[in-house]
This record gives sequence, C-alpha cells and structure tokens, in this order.
Amino acid sequence: MTPGRTVSDILTRLKTLRAADAPTQGGRVLAYVYDSGRERVDFLAAEAAEITRPLNGLDPTVFPSVATMERELIGFVRRNVHGNRHVYGTVTSGGTESCLLAVKTARDLWRRENPDAAATTRPRLVAPDTAHAAFRKAAGLFDLEWDPVPCGPDGTAHAEDIIDHLDSDVALVVVSAPSYPTGTIDPIAEVAAAAAARGIRCHVDACFGGLVLPWWPGVPDWDFRVRGVTSISADLHKFGYAPKGVSVLLHRGRRQHRAQFFATARWPGYPVVNPTLLGSRSVSPLAAGWAITQYLGDDGFAELTATIARVAQAIVAEVASIRGLMVLGNPVGPAITVAADTHLHVAERVDPHRLADELGRFGWRIQHQPGFTQSDGTRIPRSAHLTLTPVLEESLPEFLTALVAAADSVRGKPPASGALGAFALRALGYSENRVPSPRAAAILLRLAGAGTVRPNQPMAGLMALIEELPAPVAEVLLIEVLAQLTEP
Ligand SMILES: Cc1ncc(COP(=O)(O)O)c(C=O)c1O
Repeated sequence: MTPGRTVSDILTRLKTLRAADAPTQGGRVLAYVYDSGRERVDFLAAEAAEITRPLNGLDPTVFPSVATMERELIGFVRRNVHGNRHVYGTVTSGGTESCLLAVKTARDLWRRENPDAAATTRPRLVAPDTAHAAFRKAAGLFDLEWDPVPCGPDGTAHAEDIIDHLDSDVALVVVSAPSYPTGTIDPIAEVAAAAAARGIRCHVDACFGGLVLPWWPGVPDWDFRVRGVTSISADLHKFGYAPKGVSVLLHRGRRQHRAQFFATARWPGYPVVNPTLLGSRSVSPLAAGWAITQYLGDDGFAELTATIARVAQAIVAEVASIRGLMVLGNPVGPAITVAADTHLHVAERVDPHRLADELGRFGWRIQHQPGFTQSDGTRIPRSAHLTLTPVLEESLPEFLTALVAAADSVRGKPPASGALGAFALRALGYSENRVPSPRAAAILLRLAGAGTVRPNQPMAGLMALIEELPAPVAEVLLIEVLAQLTEP
C-alpha cells in the first residue's frame, strides 16, 4: 500500500526531478527540443494546452473546437507547402505517426490498385539510407519490403540511384526535406517526376523542415509545387515550437486521404472512425500548435527562420575554421552535421563522438550519430548532429567559443573505439545470427559498466560499440539500455 502524498510534496518532487533534465530552454540542447526563444510563444502554448486538457480528440462531433483547430492548422500548413484545395490533411501525434500513416496509406492503395501482384508480392518501400528510421519501422509494421538506397559517403542521396529502384512493386518512395542525419534536402523534383511517370506515390518527409523551408532563402521547390509529390509530413512539435504530440500529414487528393482512415461499424460499441493510429487523442498539443501558428502568422515564422539561417551561417563558417572538423553533406535548413575532416592526418582530426562528449562537459548537448556502412559497402562516417533553433542566436558567441575549445581539447585524440567490446561479444559467440537474450544483454551491460546508464553520461564509448557490432546485436543492447532506465 502506498499512501497518497500532498499536492505540494508531489510538485516539489517533480521540480527536483526536472532539475536533473537537460535544459529544455535557452538553446543548450541542440537536439530534441525546439525553442523559439520567445516567452509569449511558450506562454500561449501552455495556456492553450491547459484550456483544452480535458478534451478527447477522438470525436470532434462532440468537441467541435477540435475540428475547428484541426481545420485551421491543416489550412496553415497546406498553404505554406503550396497545397491547393485538392490537398487534404490530418493532425497526428508526431513525425513518426505521420510517416507510418503515409506508408500505410500508400500500401493499402497499392494493394487495391494491384490486386494480382498483391496476392503474391510484398510491395517495396524505397528511400535513401538517410531517410528517418520511422520508415524502416513502418515497413516492418505494415509488411512492406524495406528497400534502402545507399547514399554517397557524405550522406547525400542521388536521384539516379533512387530512380533505379523504382518499379511496379514499389508502393511508395520517400524523400526528405531535409534528412535528419545530414540536414541535406534530397533530389525531390527528379525523384517525384520519375515516380509519377511510373505511377508510384512519392512522400516528402518534411517532419523536420516543413515549418522552416517555406521561409528559408533559396530553396529549390520541394513541396506540392513539385508534380509527383503525393504526400508531405510536417511536424508542429519541431519548428512549429509546439509541445510534443503534433504533426500534420497532407495528401494530394481526397481518395488518398480517405484511404488513411480506419472505420468500423462491426462491433457492438460506438461507431469507430480513426483518421490516425490512435483512438483517444490528447488535444493539448494540437491546441498549442494551432495557437502558435495563429500568433506567429507567416511573418513570425519568417522572422524566426531568418534567425535560424543566420545561426546556421555563423556555425558553418566557424566549423570551416576549426582544423580537423568539417560539415557533412550540403545542409539547407535548420540542421548541421559535423564529422572528422578525413583529408587531414589522424593526429589532426576531431572525433565527433569525443567532441559531443566534450561539449557536454561545457554544458552544451549535440547529438552523437554512429557511422553507418551501407549495403554497397560505402560508409557514412560517424558524426554529430546540431539542430539549430532561434534561441541559439542569443548565446551564439558562447556556443562558438565552446565548440572551438572542445575541438581543441579532443583534436588528435584517438577516435572513440568499440573494438574491444565488439571483440568480446564476438568471442562469446554473438553475431548477426545469434543475438544475446535480454537477460544476457543486461549482464553484458553491467559487466561493461553500462548497466546503470545515467542521462548525462558520456556516450562516445557506447556509440563506438554500436558501430562495431552487427546491427541485430547492437539493437538488443540498445533496447536493454533504454528498458533498464524505466524498470521499477
Ligand atoms: C526527417 C524526420 N522525419 C521523421 C522524424 C520523426 O519524428 P518524431 O520524433 O516526431 O516521431 C524526425 C525526427 O527527428 C525527422 O527529423
């Protein structure tokens, strides 16, 4: 029996717990959180979320305010990605849900349109290796064959390589605007045109860039202006500055949009109509996202985007002057990825895993990205991802100073290595075909001293180990690391 606690005790404890989190405001964390730097935006989001907290988005016929906010939010995003009145949309709970639904919809339509092939064939889902992992997840969940296309060694996707994969068994090809791992925009116009010529649907994953690229200077057409683009996802809980839980998925054409829905009149309960994967839905994130778009309007988004563009320019210039570090790919938009400059001797390179840990010591968090060997053997190097938000402009000189100091302090140090751990796991007989059980994984992590991962601990060693291990073994260990964090 646990006795109840007082409200003040609980809130005091919650505040103590929150104090141990990475700071969600002020721009110190260059991933996960998106801070506009404007107090009014956060105030408005909190108010809107609180006013709508008791609602259930499951049934807008009972709560018409939900339908109004959805309609207006979809309208705002649609206009900014140049969708006309033949583009229809839905508010989802986030980027992953939008991506999953884009895939499920395309699969259902492909099956409907190709009944003979569908009887014997699993449709393919084609995307560059740099497409968000949500698409690999979608392929697994919805029984499509995942067909990733290798990118160049700098993570840039090439149109002709993607187009080579397009055939009549492809239900959907995905391109990103931009991709998360390198911030590079895929060759959308070329791929979408080739897809249209073959009758294949083409999704633009603008979960990351959808609320920035409309105002970013000099971006080639990437949205519904491009013939052949059949759906677009754009997250409000990223550069819409809303709390987590809100994204928009848009479809070209009513038929494609309606194919996304689930409805049943075949059970004894209330008639169920779900536009998304969830049943009951929280309305607070939608309300916050809606309120912010109403408040900022196009001008507000344009101003915030201009701020991010200045920040991006300054960071790219600074990285260019840091010996041993370079920008990976051709970022256009609010992400920059840095990697070791392989043109230089090892003794002069800056290992991005070590850099990320070192910056952590200075109070700045950038995101480790393990190196990745593609199916053609090409390796996209290990890197560190920086999500750039408007608030960073306020502390930009401080950040640049820390970046230079962190690079200076790790330059020439041997890159973080997972070779020893990987050797030990291979010696224990683990491989692609024989992965540790959850219990064995827990013991291995404890032996490696990683049994009790703390949110702020250096990650270079774990990241390097992931690079060295066969992916199925690494995945078991990653699951164990996360699952242990929440074990009672
Ligand atoms: C391009 C892209 N697509 C999809 C996602 C998945 O979004 P979420 O984390 O909201 O599920 C992300 C997240 O960073 C992303 O950058």
